[in-house]
Amino acid sequence: MFKINSEYTKLPENYLFSNIAKKVNAFSMANPDKKIIRLGIGDVTQPIAPKIIDSLHKAVDEMGEASTFKGYAPDLGYEFLRSAAAQTDYRDRGCDISDDEIFISDGAKCDSGNIQEIFDRDNKIAICDPVYPVYLDSNVMAGRAGNFNEKTCMFDNVIYMPCLMENGFAPQIPDKTPDIIYLCFPNNPTGATITKKELQKWVDYANEKGSVIIYDAAYEAYISNSDVPHSIYECEGARNCAIELHSFSKNAGFTGLRLGYTVVPKDIKAGGTTLHALWARRHATKYNGAPYIVQRAGAAVYTEEGQRQIKAQVSYYMENARIILEGLKSAGYSVSGGVDAPYIWLKTPDKMTSWEFFDMLLNECNVVGTPGSGFGPSGEGYFRLTAFGSRENTLEAMDRIKNRLSAF
Ligand code: MLT
Repeated sequence: MFKINSEYTKLPENYLFSNIAKKVNAFSMANPDKKIIRLGIGDVTQPIAPKIIDSLHKAVDEMGEASTFKGYAPDLGYEFLRSAAAQTDYRDRGCDISDDEIFISDGAKCDSGNIQEIFDRDNKIAICDPVYPVYLDSNVMAGRAGNFNEKTCMFDNVIYMPCLMENGFAPQIPDKTPDIIYLCFPNNPTGATITKKELQKWVDYANEKGSVIIYDAAYEAYISNSDVPHSIYECEGARNCAIELHSFSKNAGFTGLRLGYTVVPKDIKAGGTTLHALWARRHATKYNGAPYIVQRAGAAVYTEEGQRQIKAQVSYYMENARIILEGLKSAGYSVSGGVDAPYIWLKTPDKMTSWEFFDMLLNECNVVGTPGSGFGPSGEGYFRLTAFGSRENTLEAMDRIKNRLSAF
């Protein structure tokens, strides 16, 4: 008789965003006349930039010609994309990353879930609380998180680093020493950022303790302040302790196309083994490479025109962020994020729980957001809105909230 991986039974029944989708679908079925505005999941709404579309078309045509047809992609990614990413995202910023330290994949979500596989089950992980659920859930599945405590809503073998209004939503170095530290800046879900000086402290700590940092830089394109680092490799010593995740979803609108990469420097070693070798081995065994046409689209992101067009798109979303931030402030809400990040994090009014506020927002304003408690116990009493809607919907959502849900 087969046995299941019983670690899965420790997870909540549904993934956070699946749960929300179910609730919204039920509401929509019961209220077919209501126009629902979705500011929940961070899914982009603007069409792919023309330079990238051009590149997609060309690549599709190449697939139809015998002389340019491509079969399996190289499992670690095409050289043209690995070198463009290493050059533009790292070396042009003064970060020492070589082309072959870039591993192309079909997105940062998969990589952030899969990366834990190259670590022993006995490693202790530290996560921010609230947190992007994939880091925790994938470690639960692997049996690394221990048991779920119903009372605290925490797994007993995980170090939670509370990120609250009181500490500026910044994680503090934990009392217990973790082996693997997950950090994400600009942060999902709080929209908080970290200065280079603060990030350097984490790098120094990891190097001192022999820990690894898994740094999720999915939202780096949204940074405008010069003291906020775009990459952890801007910090000294990060090559010895940090893996970085990079997404094309949020900077170039690839949520539907799927493309990302992970940087694993060759300097991170345990005994004589590099994490680089392990990740390469995993990729080669379990992955056949992101599609050629999508990697060509990714390469277009790094052209001059591509860069200009995606920057314009980022500015469009950041104007939405400004509208939400100011709209909520003027309606009396306590809000943060939304300056160097496309997420706005608000305190629910009148001590409402996150899910109570979710229901009220859906019922009264027909606006969907994400309950903070879905990201962890310290997210209770908070709520996330995304700037990835269309301008029209963002403005309308703010009007509805200001008119019906003023926090005064
Ligand atoms: C989010 O809404 O947190 C993100 O869109 C989810 C993701 O990137 O997988």
